[in-house]
Amino acid sequence: MDFFGPTKRLTCGFFIAVHLYAPLLRARTLPDARLDQTFRNSYELIFANLNRIDVSPGAVIASPSKSNPDYFYHWLRDASLTNRSLFAVYDATSDRGLQSRLLSNFYSWVSFEKRTQENSLTASVGLGEPIFLVTGDVATKPWGRPQSDGPASRATALSQWALYLIENGERKFVEDNLYKAELPARTLIKRDLEYVSLNWRLPSYDLWEEVKGTHFYTLAVQRKSLLTGAVLADKLSDPFAAQAYREQADAIGKELSKFLEIENREYISVTRDQVEGWTHKKSGLDIAVILAANHGLVGDRFFSDHQSKFIKTAEKIEDTFSTYPVNKDSKLARAIGRYPEDVYDGSGFSGGNPWFLATHAMAEFYCNLANMNSNPAQKKQLQEKGRSFLLRSLNHVNPTTGEMTEQFSRQSGALMGARNLTWSYASYLTAYLACRSN
Ligand code: NOJ
Ligand code: NOJ
Repeated sequence: MDFFGPTKRLTCGFFIAVHLYAPLLRARTLPDARLDQTFRNSYELIFANLNRIDVSPGAVIASPSKSNPDYFYHWLRDASLTNRSLFAVYDATSDRGLQSRLLSNFYSWVSFEKRTQENSLTASVGLGEPIFLVTGDVATKPWGRPQSDGPASRATALSQWALYLIENGERKFVEDNLYKAELPARTLIKRDLEYVSLNWRLPSYDLWEEVKGTHFYTLAVQRKSLLTGAVLADKLSDPFAAQAYREQADAIGKELSKFLEIENREYISVTRDQVEGWTHKKSGLDIAVILAANHGLVGDRFFSDHQSKFIKTAEKIEDTFSTYPVNKDSKLARAIGRYPEDVYDGSGFSGGNPWFLATHAMAEFYCNLANMNSNPAQKKQLQEKGRSFLLRSLNHVNPTTGEMTEQFSRQSGALMGARNLTWSYASYLTAYLACRSN
């Protein structure tokens, strides 16, 4: 089946001409049919996690696993990043049936997040609450709180959908549910943006839920939410808010710069000013910096100004995981973990492993670099590098079911950790889409 039909933005004859040769282009851009199959499997397996009778419509379980580990929760981060990926698929496909499934999931997600957001207003850390039951209630178990990337990622994903809906005649839905120019804010996105604007200077737990401090990743996605939100605010006649969000985004940009020169390291360090949590992460080297680039910075001036430092960081990360036995003597790209000192094995602490989402992050990063490069030879090289990480990941995916867990063994490469992890699939989707472009 022809997944990618003519682009929805047929703006000139050139595009039309290119698309007449689409099969040729696809043959060139997708060298391995397994990559395409894994793409389709990934969104189908996400749908399977979303549409279950034992969770409220719109809830995004991190994994169906209820014990060892218990990931049967709606994490705000995982849910928002998953919806970011589903929007990217919506935008890229011309398959009407798939689009309508994606849109209907999106509307359910909005209804569900209205409940989680309302519930978190009275939680101890407010909108920084990271984790909810599948009913939408706050999960009260002890946890690293607050986690401030969540509301930012939710605002970005929702804003992307909102901008699309406005273009397609759904402004009223957006104003009623997502963004209304009023204070105090009562709509989903506006509340998140106000929270980000007012709280980004406060320390929070990182995306790995282990360290409380100031984090490169969190700041990057906070900045992105304010910049995307400002575009939306302008469209919805809220110019002073747009200006305020841009001012805060600029201030965050200055904070981000401080991470570039920590201890004269060649790479970008992940955390500053730790106040609480685990203290074992001495190197500061972390795939979270590459995730920050993918989720928050690519295409942006900050990224282009510091591109070589990001590349250095990616290279160091690749080097550091060469010590994992699964990466010895392999002609494949390296399998990538979270950070060198990691000991979390997916249910206990026997040692860190490669993660699907970390390996996919490297693919997305290099393919993004390829897409920005106008030198044909360099572009090709970067694209091949990016795709090599996707091919690496395929080596560990269950060949019969398409399953991706959270991690795979650093010794044997066998699947480990939470099964059918939603974020593993979501991270494949955006990496694949970045890697299929010319
Ligand atoms: C579960 C967290 O989500 C994971 O990131 C962390 O490494 C472990 N708990 C250990 O704290
Ligand atoms: C552990 C990861 O560290 C965290 O980032 C994630 O949100 C949860 N697992 C749920 O997938």
